[in-house]
Amino acid sequence: MKIILLGAPGAGKGTQAQFISKYLSIPQISTGDMLRTAVSNKTELGMEAKILMEKGELVPDDLILDLVKDRINEKDCAKGYLFDGFPRTLDQANALIQKGIEIDCVVEIVVSDEEIIQRMSGRRVHSASGRTYHIKHNPPKKENLDDETGEPLIQRTDDNEETVKKRLKIYHEQTYPLVELYKTISKPGSLTHYVEIDGIGSIIDIQSQISENIERIAQLLVLSRL
Ligand code: AP5
Ligand code: MG
Repeated sequence: MKIILLGAPGAGKGTQAQFISKYLSIPQISTGDMLRTAVSNKTELGMEAKILMEKGELVPDDLILDLVKDRINEKDCAKGYLFDGFPRTLDQANALIQKGIEIDCVVEIVVSDEEIIQRMSGRRVHSASGRTYHIKHNPPKKENLDDETGEPLIQRTDDNEETVKKRLKIYHEQTYPLVELYKTISKPGSLTHYVEIDGIGSIIDIQSQISENIERIAQLLVLSRL
């Protein structure tokens, strides 16, 4: 299955992506995580991305598209994948369409800006894996340590209130139009399905809503291919 997770910064895409990726045994492709790896490896892309990410701005489409193109050609993507934080502009979405990549399911996680601003100050991240926690809503087993490796958690440099507000503004201007685009693409009879999930509630409840919808869509896809 090929899935896109849409939603504002902090809506819970990364949190739910980890679950869906295990549930369907497909890789999570997070352009944000890939860029953070490039930043910590001080690659040419990383140097360029760092300045933009710290300001809460988007990285240019051509750089992102090169990154994604290489990633989806890897062996583990043969049976599908989950995009987390990609596409994020109409040009990125149109590039997928032009390449003939058929998305089975677009899941939008909806959370208000006010809730997001509150959430972000409590986020903690294991930088090597991208595993995400929240000091109140999803705490690690041991304070400030990753559950799997025991390594220290960090706070992302773009999680301060001012940058979060900038990221939300950019989301509404540049990424929100994708909601309309995919709603239009997923009209009745289309093989692309659109699901809107209320992102307020417990992480487990949101997981169940997503998995129920994925099961339903998987069945529809099987029937449509008979
Ligand atoms: P990226 O890393 O993709 O960040 P983002 O889209 O801004 O989203 P976040 O990762 O901040 O939030 P999330 O939705 O994953 O939420 P999470 O699950 O962590 O991108 C970073 C930067 O890279 C961009 O600003 C841009 O510069 C660049 N970039 C990346 N992709 C790009 C692209 N395609 N094009 C151009 N530039 C690109 O959850 C947030 C917090 O809430 C956590 O603490 C979590 O534990 C908690 N939480 C989750 N669910 C719940 C819940 N139900 N209730 C309470 N708390 C919850
Ligand atoms: Mg994320």
